[in-house]
Amino acid sequence: MAHPLDPRTVHRRDFLRWLAASPVLAALGGCDGGGARTAIGQEAPRRTLDDLVASAAEALDVFDIERVAERTLPTAHWGYIKTGVDGEETQRNNRASLERIYLRARRLVNVSELDTSVRLFGREWPTPIVIAPAGSQRGFHPDGELATARAARARNHLQALSTVSSTGVEDVNEARGEPVWYQLYPRSNWAATEALVRRVRAAGCPVIVLTVDLNGGSNRLTVERYGRTDDRDCTSCHRDGGRAPSVKPMLQGLPPGPADSPPSAMTWGYIGRLRDVTDQRIVVKGLVTWEDAELAIRYGVDGIWVSNHGGRAEGSGRATIDALPEVAETVGGRMPIIVDGGFRRGTDVFKGIARGATAVAVGRPYLWGLGAFGQQGVERVLEILTQELHITMRSVGTPTLADIGPQSIGVG
Ligand SMILES: Cc1cc2nc3c(=O)[nH]c(=O)nc-3n(C[C@H](O)[C@H](O)[C@H](O)COP(=O)(O)O)c2cc1C
Repeated sequence: MAHPLDPRTVHRRDFLRWLAASPVLAALGGCDGGGARTAIGQEAPRRTLDDLVASAAEALDVFDIERVAERTLPTAHWGYIKTGVDGEETQRNNRASLERIYLRARRLVNVSELDTSVRLFGREWPTPIVIAPAGSQRGFHPDGELATARAARARNHLQALSTVSSTGVEDVNEARGEPVWYQLYPRSNWAATEALVRRVRAAGCPVIVLTVDLNGGSNRLTVERYGRTDDRDCTSCHRDGGRAPSVKPMLQGLPPGPADSPPSAMTWGYIGRLRDVTDQRIVVKGLVTWEDAELAIRYGVDGIWVSNHGGRAEGSGRATIDALPEVAETVGGRMPIIVDGGFRRGTDVFKGIARGATAVAVGRPYLWGLGAFGQQGVERVLEILTQELHITMRSVGTPTLADIGPQSIGVG
């Protein structure tokens, strides 16, 4: 029986099928403007949008890979990647605000050498592009987080691993070749949280990324709709007759306790509790205001991750690229800032740096790569974003990340 993620089980989109067969495309004609693509009387095999990208290497931008992932993944799993909350306003605004920002290019600057290196807690990375934590990656490819880790290793990117990963941290660290950062969803049961933190500390993870933007829950409708249209038998991977997620490896064997996670009663005092059980660095993920940036400094946080969970947390309607400046101004260079939410091109990464981020993380794009082509797909996404960042830095006249600043952009 074919694996549910086998490309042979692909759900081809009706629209693309229609478009490929449509006289509309034919009417657009070939190079001669008259519709003849080859010698008269000869029917040329025509590539459709459906088969334009047969391998990761053929993708021109991350949206090419998104298209393949959409066709390859089971509908419900595609819905899990795609979903935001409510009517997806926040997710759309993440992109819309990035697109409203333009670049101010300076000319006649020596850009023959580029330096995109960035230091985070004493470790130097060759690139500011970070792999954001995302759960359940075996739902996108059988190799899941291991494929992502191998890609991160091959291209030397910082990777953060989700609490709800489908592979344990020890195996991911081995595939990555060094310990990853660990994203923590705390449990209501403190003993369970403590056990989790001790496990990832023992595994060598230098940083805990404490995600705080889901403590109020989230109203995800798209994933619900896509799930209802998926009629596969999911009982071999999911619990509760195929409806509930599987038990995640990092959550197995923890002391039993209240089930709600992240705990809705959590406040800033939690940072001190974590400090008492670990000497790992603590980055708080999900901050979007200067007031919380100030509190993060007061409570001794080591880094801030400006994020709205890719539009999957509260339906704030506010883009993270617009929240970033007030956080960056408050922090004033005292700690690193990572931003994510809608970053899809090298120009977007550039805009994040220009608005005060130390590094920029991506979520969905590498998951598209994973779903479409496994490790090769993740590598290609990272390669595309890197190449695009390089060309942007050269053409705007900013040979180092330090040269990129508010003067490099404007709002149209
Ligand atoms: C499928 C999926 C799963 C995610 N799982 C987690 C998670 O387990 N923990 C977490 O902190 N963030 C999670 N996120 C949010 C990402 O870390 C990141 O904030 C977001 O994807 C960035 O936005 P982008 O997808 O537009 O790049 C997830 C995002 C997606 C798309």
